[in-house]
Amino acid sequence: MRHLLSIEDLDRADVERILDRARAFTEVSEREIKKVPALRGRRVLNLFYEASTRTRSSFELAAKTLSAEVINFVSSGSSVEKGESLKDTVQTLSAYRPDLIVVRTPHVGAAGLVARWTPAGVVNAGDGKHEHPTQALLDVHTLRERLGTLDGLDIWIVGDVLHSRVARSNVLAFQMMGARVTVCGPPTLIPRGFEALGCAVEHTLDRLGEADVVYALRMQHERMTDSFVPSLREYAAVYQIDGRRLGPRQVLMHPGPVNRGVELSAEVIDSPQALIGQQVAAGVVVRMAVLYELLAGRASGDRAPTTRAGGMEYA
Ligand code: NCD
Repeated sequence: MRHLLSIEDLDRADVERILDRARAFTEVSEREIKKVPALRGRRVLNLFYEASTRTRSSFELAAKTLSAEVINFVSSGSSVEKGESLKDTVQTLSAYRPDLIVVRTPHVGAAGLVARWTPAGVVNAGDGKHEHPTQALLDVHTLRERLGTLDGLDIWIVGDVLHSRVARSNVLAFQMMGARVTVCGPPTLIPRGFEALGCAVEHTLDRLGEADVVYALRMQHERMTDSFVPSLREYAAVYQIDGRRLGPRQVLMHPGPVNRGVELSAEVIDSPQALIGQQVAAGVVVRMAVLYELLAGRASGDRAPTTRAGGMEYA
């Protein structure tokens, strides 16, 4: 595997292999000296055109824990502000010969384009409202660690599905791992034809009690071009997951950042049923496993090494 652009780049055996490795990396993350030499000499470029707290910092920690070199590029403060395009930026930074580019942009399909413009491997860390495959992997990991398996689970994804790249990647990943998925939200916030992904669609929380896992999503105002709900207060009255709606045997997830008091009430965020902290922690070991999968065993810059009389060269 060269790139991770979509959950559809993986099959169930790939997911299990990557997450078994993530589990093995947990031990490294818990050591006093959190470093192993697995990716020594490899270069990882974090290219972020959108805000990020968890994804960017965990990719950086993952790369550094595996001894790779990391270059962090954020669009603000760069020549993007002087009008440099994504293509020119990628081609410019490719001159530094990164082995892998981790890219987040507000544009659907941009990670796929970046993969065409650079010889480096590419990981999609969020392309607009399209996909966020490493989030889905860390969520599957969190559930496997807590519940053992996703086979037969009922998972409800509640909220702004329309603007969520997490929803799309997670529906695909959860189903691949054997869960049944229901998405729930106001009709204005569920994309038309979303059932085609294989999930059920609900517009009320009346049957939320059937869920084993409740996965809440943020209202993604930054991607809204219109008004999709009458007001946040009215939205919260109908869709907020609170102590009354969350059953005692259900677990609660959220990709972060949480808008307290909108999609989740404070009491459920801080309850032992919430796996939100575990999801964040899983981000590091799962991204270590993804970097390892894409980079270990590959020659620097994806040029296969050939041995010549004078030593190692790159074909
Ligand atoms: C999500 C994202 O950026 O897609 N956050 C994340 O990566 N943990 C979800 C969100 O912004 O609501």
